[in-house]
Amino acid sequence: MADSPTAPAPHRAGAPAASEELPEVLDVISRMPACAETPLGALDSAITPNERFFVRNHFAVPTVDRATWRLALSGEVRRPLDLSVEALRELPSRTVIATMECAGNSRRAVYPPAEGVQWNHGAVGTAEWEGVPLRELLERAGPLASAREVVLEGADRGREPGVEAELAYAMSLPLEKAMDADTLIATRMNGDPLSAQHGAPARAIVPGWYGMASVKWLTRIQVSSAPFLGHYRTKSYVFVPEGPDSSSPTVPVTRLRVKSLITWPTEGTLLPRGSYTIRGVAWSGEGPIERVELTTRAARSDRERGAWIAARLLENTSPHAWVRWECPVELRAAGHYVLRSRAIDRAGHTQPAQALWNFRGVATNSVHAVRITVRAT
Ligand code: MTE
Repeated sequence: MADSPTAPAPHRAGAPAASEELPEVLDVISRMPACAETPLGALDSAITPNERFFVRNHFAVPTVDRATWRLALSGEVRRPLDLSVEALRELPSRTVIATMECAGNSRRAVYPPAEGVQWNHGAVGTAEWEGVPLRELLERAGPLASAREVVLEGADRGREPGVEAELAYAMSLPLEKAMDADTLIATRMNGDPLSAQHGAPARAIVPGWYGMASVKWLTRIQVSSAPFLGHYRTKSYVFVPEGPDSSSPTVPVTRLRVKSLITWPTEGTLLPRGSYTIRGVAWSGEGPIERVELTTRAARSDRERGAWIAARLLENTSPHAWVRWECPVELRAAGHYVLRSRAIDRAGHTQPAQALWNFRGVATNSVHAVRITVRAT
């Protein structure tokens, strides 16, 4: 089922509200709140079609009436704004192709298990986002010299375990990132108006950062002089320092770590002996992808480092988007193989062999491994 806007279906008792429905192609992890990922084989394109794009909600999809929806911008500014959908649409807009990955993606690779949504590797996708640069709004409002951070708040709210009061989903950006020409208040995704699941009528898009900052169902932008201490900024999307001093501050999750995924073949594929082209995607928020390497067997010693072979990088649609890659291999002998891919970005970062453990299980970018079997006939 597509998640693009359709006529609202009558709501049957026990059936999810139309706004909560999820496309059938997605692997659903939870329905309330909706968390659904893309099977890896369906990530095999430069742009991820809307109905294949993963969904990560913390609460129920809020009811947002386009006719009365307003986006308020206030705080450390000279001229607070209060915009309707039409007023937002009249402002200069641009399109940006960007990969969005949830910070919890690949959490299932973390051992011992870290608490949080147990994503496999499919909480990632690439779309063409269209909207008004946040900078346009900030420049109209005129930030004061005291402005440091920009807090983005969505219309969704609810309770989180261990937190007394009801919360709204909110995240902050440093002013510099908020002023980046590619940080958008997006209203369209791959040419269509945003669907309810993806944040209609307007959401933030923060290219190069993990998805938690791309706040959906945006209603409030608050420019502040002090660091934002909201739940998601200080408790959820953070690296928690290990060790005896539990008072040391957490470190916010921000930029995407370098990562690659194998999109074909997928785990458990059975193939006859032959020549194949292994395919995948790779991205980094720290710099362009320099190269991707693939191995079909584990190196048993340092001398076997050469077992990594260079993949060919395909089109590069945008500095913020993943690159597709492919790598021809000869699988001439029957047996069990583990395909492993790793990416290296221009800043010299690469993927660790094993997931780097952290309390929240965030920003996991270890080498992707896929087991396949080659049969004799
Ligand atoms: N914005 C709001 N208002 N509420 C949310 O639950 N989830 C965030 C972000 N923005 C969220 C949100 C997270 S963690 C991610 S990874 C992305 O939205 C997912 O966006 P998508 O569901 O469109 O893929």
